[in-house]
Amino acid sequence: MRVGIHDLAVATGHHVLDLDDLAARNGVDPAKYHVGLGQDAFSVPAADEDIVTMGAAAALPLIERHGTDGIRTVLFATESGVDQSKSAAVVAHGLLGLPSTARAVELKQACYGGTAALVAALGIVARDPRERVLVIASDVARYDLDSAAEPTQGAGAVAFLVAADPDLIEIEPASGLFSADVDDFWRPNDRSTALVDGRLSVSAYVDALLGSWDDLADRGGIAPADIDRWLHHQPFTKMALKAHRAWSKHVGAEFDETELATGFTYNRRTGNSYTASVFLALAALLDLDDDLDGRRLALFSYGSGSVGELLTGIVKPGYRALRRAGQVAGLLDARVPISVDDYRELHAATSTSSEARQNPAVTTGPFRFTGVEAGARRYARTE
Ligand code: CAA
Repeated sequence: MRVGIHDLAVATGHHVLDLDDLAARNGVDPAKYHVGLGQDAFSVPAADEDIVTMGAAAALPLIERHGTDGIRTVLFATESGVDQSKSAAVVAHGLLGLPSTARAVELKQACYGGTAALVAALGIVARDPRERVLVIASDVARYDLDSAAEPTQGAGAVAFLVAADPDLIEIEPASGLFSADVDDFWRPNDRSTALVDGRLSVSAYVDALLGSWDDLADRGGIAPADIDRWLHHQPFTKMALKAHRAWSKHVGAEFDETELATGFTYNRRTGNSYTASVFLALAALLDLDDDLDGRRLALFSYGSGSVGELLTGIVKPGYRALRRAGQVAGLLDARVPISVDDYRELHAATSTSSEARQNPAVTTGPFRFTGVEAGARRYARTE
């Protein structure tokens, strides 16, 4: 049976911080961010946005285009969860007006969660091909102010429908896996920012890519020349380049570094969106590469802590008719620039606090996080 990604859509935060401004504030050569990290800007959610509003905003166009028929599962992947018990999937399910005959669950394993959701969705659809699964990957990447990781923050969400006979990509059955217990990046329950051992995280990512490749090559009988395009998790786009260089050395394959650039297009502008990052790379490739009919993509997902998975999929002929490049570019262009001072003020306000409050109305997205009442987060449709 052919199962895969039928349609996908993207959302991000209301504001954008230009990394030239952060470089000026930090007294750093901007080339360190643009060239050394491969990032140009990052999205900053407004006070009335969070993973739920971004995730539901990404999913809304899918519901508008395809309706709710067949959707019996909503999987919400995030590592910046806003409640320890109630899943963001249940809240998104309500905001989107999905039928009560659906299960809704949140998944977590750092940035790998979105891929875990995809794999679970493939299994659900294989079990009953009449079903469709709505997967939402949404995150706000937050590190301490003035830390080395600060320029690699960001925010974004990607939603996709997993279905039988998909219009966009058939995911192939074999994948490569690599898990290892590493303390490279984590967020204890009492913190709103992640802790990270930057150097270790870079080497753990590379280990996971090489391990996942070896496992896929063993199981799937795949060779480097069988892959037409590569997409990687992009905590910062240079990370994908560094890992791919290590992979090409590992397998003894030449590669043209410019080949990865198309998949970097959106991530360079949103910054790290954790679970959504590799799917944002996929969105960019589908939107901007004209020559994908029947091509095999490799999609590498890495979640610190750590789990890696390397999946492959075949792009369906006709994908071009479904492209929405202008929409994503419009979304990114429409973000409202924020000054470094205002960004620092927003950063200091802990968005996960359960203290009663009403949030200012800022976002122009379809959903708002309106505030907190009796410890419960409240959301509303804005349009
Ligand atoms: N012009 C051009 N390049 C410059 C430069 C300049 N003026 N100044 C420095 N650079 C280059 C450096 O040479 C370096 O390049 P290489 O890595 O190719 O050698 C690059 O800029 C970065 O410089 P540093 O290594 O000095 O940067 P840093 O130590 O200040 O911070 C970091 C880098 C450790 C990755 C930090 O940003 C960080 O901790 N980020 C968060 C962790 C992270 O994203 N890890 C990735 C793997 S974990 C993961 O994937 C999960 C996840 O999403 C978090």
